[in-house]
Amino acid sequence: MSRLSTRLLNWYNKHKRILPWRDHPDPYAVWVSEIMLQQTRVETVIPYFEKWMKLFPTIKKLAKANEQDVLNAWEGLGYYSRARNLHKSAKVVAEKFNGELPRNLDDLKSLAGIGKYTVGAIASMAFGMDEATLDGNLRRIFSRLFDVKEFADSPAGEKILWSLARENLPKGKAGDYNQALMDLGSTICLPKNPKCLLCPLIQICEARKKGVQELRPILKPKKKTPQYIDVAVVVLRRDEVLLNQRPADGLLANMWEFPNARLAEAAVLGGVKSKEIVKSLKAQTKIQVKQKEALGIVNHAYTHFKVSVHVYQCDLISIPK
Ligand code: ADE
Repeated sequence: MSRLSTRLLNWYNKHKRILPWRDHPDPYAVWVSEIMLQQTRVETVIPYFEKWMKLFPTIKKLAKANEQDVLNAWEGLGYYSRARNLHKSAKVVAEKFNGELPRNLDDLKSLAGIGKYTVGAIASMAFGMDEATLDGNLRRIFSRLFDVKEFADSPAGEKILWSLARENLPKGKAGDYNQALMDLGSTICLPKNPKCLLCPLIQICEARKKGVQELRPILKPKKKTPQYIDVAVVVLRRDEVLLNQRPADGLLANMWEFPNARLAEAAVLGGVKSKEIVKSLKAQTKIQVKQKEALGIVNHAYTHFKVSVHVYQCDLISIPK
């Protein structure tokens, strides 16, 4: 075993986090947890994971569930295509693989929502196969340990990082190795202020030797994220509230929301005006309202854009038939 993996596994044996999907014999549980953990913190995921496994304890039960129940169980976790893909893939696994997650890597990769990262994670953690994986935490760790100077988010950087993850993998212990790296990335090798003095790999970390650990990974310069101004309206009728269903494709497909519209850039320059609110809403949703009081502004950051939603209470004039 390499010096890296020996030290890493010794550290993991002492410090590993107790998590409900760890040492779980069920590949389905590993799959669900890995999908939930994409872009989402462990502490947030735990209660969702536990609830999910009670509601849909097997792949066959998930396959038979209706989409609204699946989305309800995911509500609040964000990136809802993850839930839709899990559901869609469960149906394929139920039908094509008798409800058992396939061990063949190409079959695994053919499932919606399962990419290179998830294949490596499931194969190593659920099936004990000698497969590496690479997520954001692992990219950062290998960039620092080997002082990688390629852009970590470029094809050349990706290739180097995958090779490093594979070269250092201890045979027969890939599941622990991958999870140890994940724990190291979320507790010690942090993006800012990494806790190098607590790190089991401090003596072999090239970036730390040069004092450049906080400058790794090197990422491509970012484009500025667009910032939009939306308006949303609250229309009440006795104890009911008017909701609108989003289109079947695109962002947050089919989900229900307060009727809303995006304001044109030119319209926002002089502030959010009442006439623009009413006009944009009518143009984009065909809902006609009379604007009343302002209820507040909600800011939210998506992956590729940010939005400030100006919320107004309104009276309804007409809705499309
Ligand atoms: N992040 C992604 N997968 C994880 C896992 N299995 N354990 C801890 N953190 C993770």
